[in-house]
Amino acid sequence: MNNLAEKYPQEIERILAKYPADQKRAAVMPLLYLAQRERMYVTKQSMEEIAEILDISSTDVASIVGFYTLYYENPGAKYRIQVCTDLPCALRGAEQFLEQLCENLGVRLGEPTADGLVLVEHVMCLAGCDRAPMFQVQSGDGLTYHENQTVDSALDLVQSLRDKERRRNGHE
Ligand code: FES
Repeated sequence: MNNLAEKYPQEIERILAKYPADQKRAAVMPLLYLAQRERMYVTKQSMEEIAEILDISSTDVASIVGFYTLYYENPGAKYRIQVCTDLPCALRGAEQFLEQLCENLGVRLGEPTADGLVLVEHVMCLAGCDRAPMFQVQSGDGLTYHENQTVDSALDLVQSLRDKERRRNGHE
């Protein structure tokens, strides 16, 4: 049984329709994105299912997951706060911002919060160099950008994500 194919038949059909039949392996990227959407990482099973859909080996799929930084093989957090600490941002206090944000959330870099909601990690230039501290938030909902941040504004954002999840889970 291919869970991915059973769960998202229309999306998969739509994705595959974009590629000529003899080049359907090119659909691996959007299929990985689809598989990752729910849990923010791609399970081994999903990799095998994608391989089956595209008629390629699961090793091929795994190597793509390993190569691209936007795909994850292990559970992390629902939301990834990716702070740019490249040189121009570092000159505008990004490293200190990152450190204080982790401290306030009670986590180390790359470690999820106890509720599994967010983790903080650093990334290279996100093209917002003059508006640092800045970060992007990656989740199953896509990417959002947040510029000219303070630790307080970032913590407010985390709180709003927490509220959103509570609503999503029907707790309010
Ligand atoms: S160096 Fe941070 S956004 Fe460019």
